[in-house]
Amino acid sequence: MNFGGILAGGQGTRMGKTDLPKQFLMLGEKPIIIHTIEQFLVSPVIDEVIVAVPDNWISYTQDIVDKYCSNNSVHIIQGGSSRNDTIMNVCKYISEKSNDEENIVVTHDAVRPFITQRIIKDNVEECRKYDAVDTVIPATDTIVESKNGEVISNIPIRGEMYQGQTPQSFKVKEFINQYNNLTEEEKQILTDACKVYVLKQKQVGLVKGELYNMKITTKHDLKMAKLMLNNLDNEEV
Ligand code: CTP
Repeated sequence: MNFGGILAGGQGTRMGKTDLPKQFLMLGEKPIIIHTIEQFLVSPVIDEVIVAVPDNWISYTQDIVDKYCSNNSVHIIQGGSSRNDTIMNVCKYISEKSNDEENIVVTHDAVRPFITQRIIKDNVEECRKYDAVDTVIPATDTIVESKNGEVISNIPIRGEMYQGQTPQSFKVKEFINQYNNLTEEEKQILTDACKVYVLKQKQVGLVKGELYNMKITTKHDLKMAKLMLNNLDNEEV
């Protein structure tokens, strides 16, 4: 089976002072997280949707899902203290339901509401070919590396650089095994789920993202997302 794992366990501190964590703020006529959940609910390649939120927001999330999504099969669970812990909670939830080695999870930031059907489908397809899949867009600006934040240590070739988005997808059982095999030191440097695979020299396939598959992090991003919403309604999203 293919599962959608919506990561909504964060507090959105970079959004500044708001009444609700950013994933619950309104974008047009519905909360950001509802836009995201809907894309997974209508996807023909996704069998079940799991949403992980902070413990004290579970019943709130259930209420808005009931309000906005009819006939839904959304399972709401507790997120973790870090994003990777949230991913692990989703994976554990799935593996308790079904231990099938072929189960795939397409993990996606709740705050990237402009995900397309094409991106979800490509993630599932590529995940059958590779150990894991990352969604990326080519870097348009030159990427400059500085190890000490004062002087440049490297300027990688721009044509080989990409910016990571989500979804990131993998086989559930394999991810749990890989993660549990990491040393504590490796877990410390693990800022990204696909890095588990890179560290173990596994193959991570690339799926083409979209510039507009943006992450809403700051108030400025939310303003941009509101402007984009009406324009994107007329395109294939
Ligand atoms: N996330 C999560 N569990 C966490 C932390 C983050 O599921 N413990 C999710 C967020 O809810 C978000 C996505 O990961 O949908 C991307 O993370 P980010 O934009 O960094 O979200 P926050 O951690 O909420 O933001 P901030 O760093 O500003 O507090």
